[in-house]
Order: sequence, then structure tokens, then C-alpha cells
Amino acid sequence: MATKPSSSSSSSSSSSSSNKKQGLGWIEWARGWLCVVQEMLFQRILASHLHNPLPLPPVNDLTCIVTGSTSGIGREISRQLAEAGAHVVMAVRNTSAASELIQKWQSEWIGMGLPLNIEVMELDLLSLDSVVRFANSWNARSGPLHVLINNAGIFSIGEPQRFSKDQYEEHMQVNHLAPALLSILLLPSLIRGSPSRIINVNSIMHHVGFVDTEDMNVVSGKRKYTSLVGYSSSKLAQVMFSNALHRRLPAEAGISVVCVSPGVVHTNVVSSRSSLFSATDPQVPEYCELLKADDWPVCAFISQDCRPTNPSEEAHNVETSYKVWEKTLEMIGLPSDAVEKLLDGQEVPCRFGDGQE
Ligand SMILES: NC(=O)c1ccc[n+]([C@@H]2O[C@H](COP(=O)([O-])OP(=O)(O)OC[C@H]3O[C@@H](n4cnc5c(N)ncnc54)[C@H](OP(=O)(O)O)[C@@H]3O)[C@@H](O)[C@H]2O)c1
Repeated sequence: MATKPSSSSSSSSSSSSSNKKQGLGWIEWARGWLCVVQEMLFQRILASHLHNPLPLPPVNDLTCIVTGSTSGIGREISRQLAEAGAHVVMAVRNTSAASELIQKWQSEWIGMGLPLNIEVMELDLLSLDSVVRFANSWNARSGPLHVLINNAGIFSIGEPQRFSKDQYEEHMQVNHLAPALLSILLLPSLIRGSPSRIINVNSIMHHVGFVDTEDMNVVSGKRKYTSLVGYSSSKLAQVMFSNALHRRLPAEAGISVVCVSPGVVHTNVVSSRSSLFSATDPQVPEYCELLKADDWPVCAFISQDCRPTNPSEEAHNVETSYKVWEKTLEMIGLPSDAVEKLLDGQEVPCRFGDGQE
């Protein structure tokens, strides 16, 4: 595990010509699609060594927040972590659906061990006010957070472009901006839980994404909006932001930042494996430290078969990652030194959080 993936064919240091880049070059684009197709075709073979479900190491002492846990991969992650003994917080917008799930899981669990330690908290990623309320209420407990799993996501295939009430393109908001805000605002709790992890459930589709920091909402007309553009750009933005966060967090903070691909069109049990692995495997923090010590330009990226891999060539662009970082902080209403202040134990003002729903 503690070996770096081989160097990406793109340089980790970006040239100034990337300043004016308007999209992926066709070779990068073709390579990106090749990665997507390879994952779709060969994922079962590549992951054939993995058990199903994945056996987990002891997690009894862990408190884990899982976003979007009422369905799909997040639901499976939450159930498996809770059954393995973790304290699980289901961060969801449909709280009654989550409560019903907990009742069902508890009744199915009778006689198998102690009751599941699982609770529900409201979080709507289409509202940055909701993200701030969630983080404030969690931080007010003054307890540790060991694992934040940013799982919730949308891919509104074939649907027209839509904007959140915060005026951001919905894929960008749900898949990148809101999880970014949540991750930063929860740093005080993650520091208390250190060694701790931020796990971003990403996608192989980031390989065909491109982020234009001057047009995060894809409204300028430079690129035609499609749901694929919205989704892939948001997933790449998440990797690039994670690269910058990984580099900003000093090793002493003990917080690992990981992006993970769950694979494409699998059962939820199979798709949850790489996220569960990233959240619990003892070698993952060691691997993140190795990348940090080597000044590697990207954060850890774990493939669907639970191996360290490289994110896309474009994700290695340090200059664009830094721009994505700055632009994201501006869009989520945080000062540019938010991380440093939070690490220093200071309060950080956020433009969002006062809106009433
Ligand atoms: N499945 C795949 O093949 C695949 C492949 C690559 C990457 N991924 C990634 O894996 C993650 C999970 O995907 P999935 O297939 O499990 O999706 P899913 O079955 O559609 O579940 C998505 C979850 O996100 C929640 N969610 C959506 N919008 C939300 C919002 N505004 N606020 C809070 N929660 C919200 C949903 O809650 P509601 O029930 O309230 O809508 C749901 O619980 C996503 O990030 C996705 O991009 C999936």
C-alpha cells in the first residue's frame, strides 16, 4: 500500500501556458475516456481479489459522518460501519427515511451484538446555510470526528442545467462546493479526532472533466452545458480542491485527505468497498503522509479495487488546483486563510449560515 502510483504522464508542475487553457486537449480527453472505459470493462477482474463485503478492521472507537446515506453506496457504507461497531452519523436531507432505515437495521441486527450506534442529522447540500448549521451543531458537541465520508452526490443525466438557491450549478454545489465547506468547517472536530480522515467519494469520470475557475457555473457560453460536463467538472474540482487541502494540512494535524472511485454501475455492496477501505485501512494515513513528505502534487486517490492510483493528468496541475482552492473558498464564503485559522483554534466567519429555511 505505501507505494506511490507511478508518475502521471503530465508534469506535476504546471506551465504558465495552462493559464489560458480552455478545455482538455484531445489527447488528454481521449486518455480520460480510455480510463473510464477500462474501469467499466475490467473492474470486476481487477477487484476479483477483494472479499464481498469487505472485512473491516476494528472500528469500535470511530465516529463517522456519512453524507447521503439514505440510498445507494452511502446507505451500504453506513450499515457496514455501524454493524462493525462504529458510531455512525447519517447526514441526510430526508431524515424520516434515514430513521426508518435505522429501525429496520436495528431489528435485523437483534441477537447479532450490541444495538447499532447510529443517529441521523439533517443536511441538505443544495443549501450552504444547511451545511453551516450542520457543522455548527456537530462542532458544538466538542467531541472527536474520526471519519468524514463525503458520499452524497448527484448526476442528473440528460436533465437541463439547474441552479441552487445559492446560485450555483447544482452538480458543482452538491458534488464539490458543499462537501468542501463541510470538510473545512468540521476541521476542529477532525483535529480532536486525529488521526482522522476526509474521504471524498469521487468518480473515474473526473478524468474527462475540466474546471474553468472563471466559469464554475458553466454559464459563459465558452462550453456548452451538458449533465456530463456538470458532473465530470464537479468531480475534478473536488480532486483539485482536495489536492490543495492535503498540501495545506501539516502532517502534525493528522488529517488524511483521500479521493476514491467506487467503480461504475455495480451493486452497492461492491461499490462501497473502496470507500470503506479508504475510511478504515490502517495503511491509508501512512500512504498520505508519504505523499506529503514527497511533496507529491495530488492527494491520495484510491481506485475501485482499493489500490492507490493516479487521478487524471489535469488533476496534477498544481496551478489550477490552487486556483480551484481559492475560487472555492470565495464561493463558499470563507476567508483564504480559513484552514490556518481553524488549525490555530481561531473562529472563522462564513458568509453562509444565517438563512432560515
Ligand atoms: N453508483 C455509481 O456507479 C457511482 C460511480 C462513480 C461515483 N459515484 C459517486 O458515489 C456517490 C454515491 O453515489 P450513489 O450511486 O450511491 O448515488 P445515489 O444512490 O443516487 O445516492 C445519492 C445520495 O446522495 C444524497 N443526496 C443527493 N442530493 C443531496 C443533497 N442535496 N443533500 C444531501 N444529500 C443529497 C441522496 O439523498 P436523497 O435520497 O435525499 O436524494 C442519496 O442518499 C456519489 O458521490 C456519486 O457521484 C457513484
